[in-house]
Amino acid sequence: MLQSTSPVPQHIAIIMDGNGRWAQERGLPRAFGHRAGAERVKEIVEHCSDLGVKYITMYAFSWENWERPEEEIHQLMRLLDEFIRRETPDMLKKGIRLQSIGRIDHLPEDTVQHLKQSIKETAGGKKICLTLALSYGSRQEIVDAVRTVAGQVKSGELNPKDIDERSIQQALYTADYPDPDLLVRTSGELRLSNFLLWQLSYTEIYVTEKNWPDFDIVELEKAITEYQKRDRRYGKTKSTAKESERISLRS
Ligand code: FPP
Repeated sequence: MLQSTSPVPQHIAIIMDGNGRWAQERGLPRAFGHRAGAERVKEIVEHCSDLGVKYITMYAFSWENWERPEEEIHQLMRLLDEFIRRETPDMLKKGIRLQSIGRIDHLPEDTVQHLKQSIKETAGGKKICLTLALSYGSRQEIVDAVRTVAGQVKSGELNPKDIDERSIQQALYTADYPDPDLLVRTSGELRLSNFLLWQLSYTEIYVTEKNWPDFDIVELEKAITEYQKRDRRYGKTKSTAKESERISLRS
């Protein structure tokens, strides 16, 4: 049961894993698992929005996924394109703002156009920000951030001795978002798979055995309930963590 006295996470990040296994268990081709997985995306985003979650970041296609068979990549791209075109009017109506992180210039040209158009159209959405991680890898993001910072040093805008956590954070694709409070990973794997390595430093992790296509709103609420029981200390003691929480609430 969700606790009304504890806050829901402001930002949830999800590694949507297990589409292939879901299909395999049913004797279906992998593409059916991806399709069933894409159906869940809408339901979970809308329920998060109803619960008051402000940001949701979903790992939809990793940098490493480019190594999959060409046919599977093609199916995933088609699903993504369909999702963007079909859901944009509904996102607009429901106050969902679409964003993306990752090297999207590697996606098919049409899909990039549709994605950019949807990002533009939904820019005024105030209920929740849905960020799709596409052609995304955290190490690649860090490489890109280092290039940005090196450029700032070269141009004289930044002195190397002034490089701090903030300058790096500002150069990441996620510069405008708070770090995730809760990471959900489906299908029982215990790894981060090159997802938001910097941003997840103090995120609470929840792993479920459910495959992504079976992750429904009941499962989402279980994850949030578990999060509400966690004691977040950010490496501090209980009392100093509470004190910094009070200070950050005041400022
Ligand atoms: C992993 O399942 C999942 C992905 C490769 C990405 C997630 C993609 C979707 C949910 C569908 C498209 C998304 C959108 C936003 C329309 P897997 O194939 O690695 O599963 P397995 O480990 O069981 O093989």
